[in-house]
Amino acid sequence: MDGDLVLLERRGAVALLTIHRPKALNALDRQVLTVLAQRLDEVAADRSVRAVVLTGSGDKSFVAGADIGEMAQLTPEQALAFALAGQAILSKIEQMPKPVIAAVNGYALGGGTELALACDVILASTRAKFGLPEVTLGVIPGFGGTQRLARLIGRNAARRWVLSGDVFPAEEALRLGVAHELHAPETLLDAAVALADRMGQRGPVAVAQAKGAIVRGEDLPLNEALELEAAAFAQCFRSSDQREGMTAFLEKRPAKFTGE
Ligand code: CAA
Repeated sequence: MDGDLVLLERRGAVALLTIHRPKALNALDRQVLTVLAQRLDEVAADRSVRAVVLTGSGDKSFVAGADIGEMAQLTPEQALAFALAGQAILSKIEQMPKPVIAAVNGYALGGGTELALACDVILASTRAKFGLPEVTLGVIPGFGGTQRLARLIGRNAARRWVLSGDVFPAEEALRLGVAHELHAPETLLDAAVALADRMGQRGPVAVAQAKGAIVRGEDLPLNEALELEAAAFAQCFRSSDQREGMTAFLEKRPAKFTGE
């Protein structure tokens, strides 16, 4: 069944999405991308989901890239459509008003690194491998790699990755701030779910506003980005979460957020 290509499990308020195409190291073909988009829409719309963890099936690979067999025969026009479609799906992650954590459990190459870069946090296994090897195939990253990586680590470091196509160990991803934390393979998923759960317990309206302010503010001049932040801050004061969060602090009790 198509739906099995991206498994959806619940761990309390956390939705765990597992890309499940193990025979191809979870490479993203059109079917996987279509189901991934559906799953992302599903968890975005489900009010009981407060945070998402995205991982790959098996212990070898997160996602080994876009499907090379499918891309091999694309015309330039089809390649443009493929890149735009992939970018739109990854943008769903960035635009989702909930935290999305990538648990990178193995190879995250090409579209795999790009998918992780669209997430809010990257936790990686000590065995993870990152890289944008597209130039070894005679193409360039097409799912946002040249842009998100350069914005994250700076264009010099990004050029080192993109122009060589080299594959980097998890430690290098950590050093450059691509990965936030490294974990032993057997504890990675629990660590990702625990972090997602913690984020999910914060005020959902505030978390959504904070994520939106960071993502939307990134490309604006500072003065405009600060205006955007002030507007998002004010927006929180329209929520019962704000009243609950502050009242709970003053009453010395844990807050019970509703996301309203
Ligand atoms: N697309 C299609 N199939 C893939 C794949 C991919 N990206 N990555 C792996 N597979 C398939 C292999 O073809 C192989 O299938 P068969 O068993 O049917 O032969 C299976 O997965 C297992 O792979 P390997 O036998 O190659 O496993 P390995 O342990 O020897 O090597 C690897 C692992 C280093 C990840 C290697 O598979 C590899 O280099 N994969 C390609 C990585 C890559 O170049 N990714 C970038 C793709 S381009 C892209 O993503 C463009 C974009 O930005 C949108």
